[in-house]
Amino acid sequence: MTSVGIDAVEIRTGKLRLDLPETFAPAQGDDPGKYTKGLGLTASSFPDVYEDIVTMGANAAHALMERKGLEPEDIGRIDVATESAFDNSKPVSTYIAGCLEQVYDGDFHHANKGERKFACISGTQSLDDAYNWIRAGRNRGRAALVIATDTALYARDDPGEATQGAGAVALLVTEDPDVVELSTEQGYGSADETDFLKPQQQFPSVDGKRSVQVYLSRMREAIEDFESVTEPIHPDDFAFIPFHTPFPGMVRKAAALGYRHASRDTEIEERLADEIGRQPRYEAFDSEEAFREAAADYTDDLTDTDLYREWYAETVEPTLTISREVGNWYTGSVHVARISALKAAAEDGVDLAGEKLLVGSYGSGAQAEIHAETVQSGWEDEIAALDVDEQLDARYELTFDEYEDVHDVHNHDEDAGASDTDQFTAPEQEFVFDGWGRMG
Ligand code: CAA
Repeated sequence: MTSVGIDAVEIRTGKLRLDLPETFAPAQGDDPGKYTKGLGLTASSFPDVYEDIVTMGANAAHALMERKGLEPEDIGRIDVATESAFDNSKPVSTYIAGCLEQVYDGDFHHANKGERKFACISGTQSLDDAYNWIRAGRNRGRAALVIATDTALYARDDPGEATQGAGAVALLVTEDPDVVELSTEQGYGSADETDFLKPQQQFPSVDGKRSVQVYLSRMREAIEDFESVTEPIHPDDFAFIPFHTPFPGMVRKAAALGYRHASRDTEIEERLADEIGRQPRYEAFDSEEAFREAAADYTDDLTDTDLYREWYAETVEPTLTISREVGNWYTGSVHVARISALKAAAEDGVDLAGEKLLVGSYGSGAQAEIHAETVQSGWEDEIAALDVDEQLDARYELTFDEYEDVHDVHNHDEDAGASDTDQFTAPEQEFVFDGWGRMG
């Protein structure tokens, strides 16, 4: 069986930048440390008035197709993952294909198009669908295009406003991939939860504190389920662990949970016991709350150890670099974390070929998925071809007044204030939203 996985990636960030400690925190009357130290964020990528999930997704897909020299006939499947969809019937992939058909001679009439929804995890679910489609032999030699695109905006003064972001990730899924090979093993943790939802409304209703606990509970279940189909995992088995990153502070908690779990019954437990001065508590707990309290105590101790800190600095911290600058991209977020890690390794000259990544995806509502990937020999060239830093540096720096204006424009509420958007100029040679259609 040939290998199947991610052959190439591209991102397109929202073109505006909102500085959180300098611009947002003072306007909210907050200590900047809440953003930089607590949430772990320095900025949000914000969508300009001419950007939406279609334009960002189409621009990412177009950049990827151009770089790989692909024509529409090379793509047999286009899946869009989003939780910012505006059409309950037509999938966003049809809008994106329509944009791309404006700039290619061929069309995508032969391509199976769809839209996946399960909050932020649907990017990974679409990747899984593409993998299964190719493994099933239904692709007729064609590649799948997976596009994770979101405008992760919250209502003004919602606590989630601090974690906003906007951007798209395009993934090319093929046989004999250059970046990572996926495997058949997966683990899930899934339950009906109502901590974060958007029933026929533009901005989410969020119980933020509970959403953090739900993330951790489902992730713990997914790790255990993953281990039911693999060997028990060991913290040192993986070069990097990209998690879904709504904000880096969330990953700080998830990584400690994963490490605590994976260090069980290993020599690491003994070394930790030496450093912490007591054995970790792994007896059965009679309630979720009792488990959580004991786990929280142990995690506090754990994260103070040198052993853990070194592991975290090498295995998790590099996954967060881009996220700190862009905020939450919902469906694209875990895929940005993977790019961030590979980019860090390339900058450090580390040869990752053959190394494993453990990928922790999550979507509210709620489901977590754990799977492993193996880095392929072409990874470095693919990562070197990205212009992530240039895109981030080119963003327009918003004042707080401008931020308020642009947020109003993206708020489809007709009573929202009118906006003077003259200061923002849509770029040429890209897809932009003109209010009625999208223009190439
Ligand atoms: N210096 C250092 N740290 C500070 C600080 C300061 N001056 N002020 C606050 N902090 C710390 C706090 O201690 C806290 O850290 P811990 O969680 O480790 O204790 C952190 O900064 C955040 O502070 P608050 O808890 O006071 O922040 P908040 O109440 O305003 O809200 C939030 C935080 C609930 C996460 C909110 O941002 C939110 O609702 N976000 C949207 C929901 C979300 O992203 N949930 C994540 C899980 S769900 C998911 O992952 C799906 C998804 O993409 C949405």
